[in-house]
Amino acid sequence: MVENERKDDNTGDSGGKSPKKLRVLLRTFGCQMNEYDSEVIRSILGQEGYTFCDSPQDADIVLLNTCAVRENAHRKVIGHIHALHHLCQDRPFILGILGCMAVNMEEALLANPALKIDLIIGPDSYRRLPELLARAAGSGGPAADTDFDISENYTGINPDRVSRVNAWVAVTRGCNNFCTFCVVPYTRGRERSRALTDILAETEKLAAQGYKQVTLLGQNVNSYADHATGFSGLLQAVSRVQGIERVRFMSPHPKDFPDAVIDAVAREPKVCKHIHLPLQAGNSRILKLMNRTYTQEDFLALVRKIRGRIPDVGLSTDIIVGFPTETASEFEDTVRVMEAVAFDSAFIFKYSPRQGTVAQKKYPDDVPEEEKTTRIVRLNAIQKGISLKRNSRHTGKTLPVLIEGLASRRSAREFQGRTDGNTIVVFPGQPGLAPGDIVPVRVTAATPHALKGETASP
Ligand code: 5AD
Ligand code: SF4
Repeated sequence: MVENERKDDNTGDSGGKSPKKLRVLLRTFGCQMNEYDSEVIRSILGQEGYTFCDSPQDADIVLLNTCAVRENAHRKVIGHIHALHHLCQDRPFILGILGCMAVNMEEALLANPALKIDLIIGPDSYRRLPELLARAAGSGGPAADTDFDISENYTGINPDRVSRVNAWVAVTRGCNNFCTFCVVPYTRGRERSRALTDILAETEKLAAQGYKQVTLLGQNVNSYADHATGFSGLLQAVSRVQGIERVRFMSPHPKDFPDAVIDAVAREPKVCKHIHLPLQAGNSRILKLMNRTYTQEDFLALVRKIRGRIPDVGLSTDIIVGFPTETASEFEDTVRVMEAVAFDSAFIFKYSPRQGTVAQKKYPDDVPEEEKTTRIVRLNAIQKGISLKRNSRHTGKTLPVLIEGLASRRSAREFQGRTDGNTIVVFPGQPGLAPGDIVPVRVTAATPHALKGETASP
């Protein structure tokens, strides 16, 4: 899943009746699932009368919803904690660490007195936030709950969403894949699917609120199962909810990509023609060590099948360079697969060992840092050229674009939106247009990261 950091800046009063009306600053690191969880957290706290602010100086409580997927995600949070203490030296505040790092770093976080952590809560325990916050505020000593709860799907909670255009909707939580590099099975626990009826009810509510797009989230959405309904059935059902114009999903696993899902993407007009298909590595020996359970040939065959059914599909991927023992010639396989597939975009990462994973325990991190750098720089350069070529195929065409917002905070003149295939488009605003509208845009130029265009008549 794509990494980013977002500051939740809804400063509105959530309307409840807490005696103290404590103000909360909630910051989110990591993937879209974490963004969704932060919306769940906002809802849970809002119900109890907490209000939200966007500056540490105004906050009684600071909650960091953290990511543990790579070493730099972890370092970012630690840096953030030190900066907060520096900024708020003279003011006491309650500091809570939530999310993936809370689970896999609990002991280390609590053992470091300089971090002054009051609260540690894992992804299955957010319903206990009000109770544990009260405990942390009342007594000395930190409160913690990082237990897994396979039954926790946050049913009945109405996430307090930040975006008004796209709504994240978790369809599975947790992960059973145990890719050897990945910490997620240890931080989010075992995989579970939400009930189809819940997901549909949530989507209907979103449509009634005016949302145009939902993005179905899960660590491996293909393994969604509710009785007889698999992921293809779910996609079909969600895309037929009246009012929803676009349905996206993140991420499927290449190991089990059934024809029925390819067909659902091909057939359902509202399911966007974009698939994020994490390759991770192009060499079959490395894929085996990663426990990905597909080979280079399997992956290429899947891409051929997808492109055969959905010719203009947008494809994106995740790649890790420098997995333990990856040789220079095995890395060349990744280069070859990237060139052969020609993804529209790729997120490329240097391998970093994560505590508790099989790779960390079994395989020494033996590819030197400089070599990882050389490999990532090379892949990024290759991908830049491929992305430019892929994006250029749209030049001169008129494509429907869902407006997401302003292209930059400084200028109200340019909008940013996305094509069905997930390519970013920047174009001059027009009176009467607003985020959430789907407008035809004629593409006038392409860069590796985006298209430029102008609104056209339909
Ligand atoms: N090191 C580097 N990258 C990783 N990812 C997951 N775990 C690691 C790790 N230990 C990447 C994968 C995954 C994306 C979300 O993060 O490419 O798809
Ligand atoms: Fe998301 Fe994985 Fe990071 Fe957890 S560790 S926030 S699941 S990317």
